[in-house]
Amino acid sequence: MKKLTIAIDGPAGAGKSTIAKKVAEALNYVYLDTGAMYRAVTLMFLQSKKTFSPELVTKLAEEAKISFQREPGLNRVFLNGEEVTEAIRSLDVTHEVSAVSAVKGVREAMVKAQRELGKDGGVVLDGRDIGTVVFPLADVKIFLTASVEERARRRFLELKAKGMAVRQEDLAKDIALRDKLDSEREIAPLKCAENAHYLDSSQMDIPTVVKTILKLCKEA
Ligand code: DC
Repeated sequence: MKKLTIAIDGPAGAGKSTIAKKVAEALNYVYLDTGAMYRAVTLMFLQSKKTFSPELVTKLAEEAKISFQREPGLNRVFLNGEEVTEAIRSLDVTHEVSAVSAVKGVREAMVKAQRELGKDGGVVLDGRDIGTVVFPLADVKIFLTASVEERARRRFLELKAKGMAVRQEDLAKDIALRDKLDSEREIAPLKCAENAHYLDSSQMDIPTVVKTILKLCKEA
């Protein structure tokens, strides 16, 4: 069977990584979390303790050696040989990542790396610009979204389960701000690709979304 390239784009907190992982597992494909790559560059910038400049973050993105190691239930992320799986999810990284990922040089370096990692097909990529920029000829393109309220609610439950004290309203504000920054930026803004399947998961559970995508893959 042909090894497909499957692009899943959408806003923060829509469940892209959960869904992409499950689709990749079902098809025995590689899963590529492109957001983790932008987060890793952002972590590198924060660790440098230098003042933000497009030149600096571009240089860091070009130097960054990012790799993934798949384990059951866990996608481990490595940056320049060190594990950063947890560190890239910190609030500091989350707050800075939109600014770093808006820089042209950063995007060029990441897109190049993503095309190389996905060039053989048999891959599920999740991000913001996979169907529009990275793999515009992907076999299956999905735009996965959900209402801000629903995304904040899911994130709240996730963090609460980890014992973190957060307010759902604050999460909703953060999500709305990140949506705005990601979709209004000049280069590769978040938008639904022309021929993407638009899936609003506000009223759908995870197995239903996975089933819908697998059906589209079969048809492709
Ligand atoms: O999917 P995520 O929330 O981990 O992504 C973190 C940030 O990285 C997101 O706010 C925007 C950026 N990003 C991007 O610009 N392009 C991608 N393909 C993936 C993520």
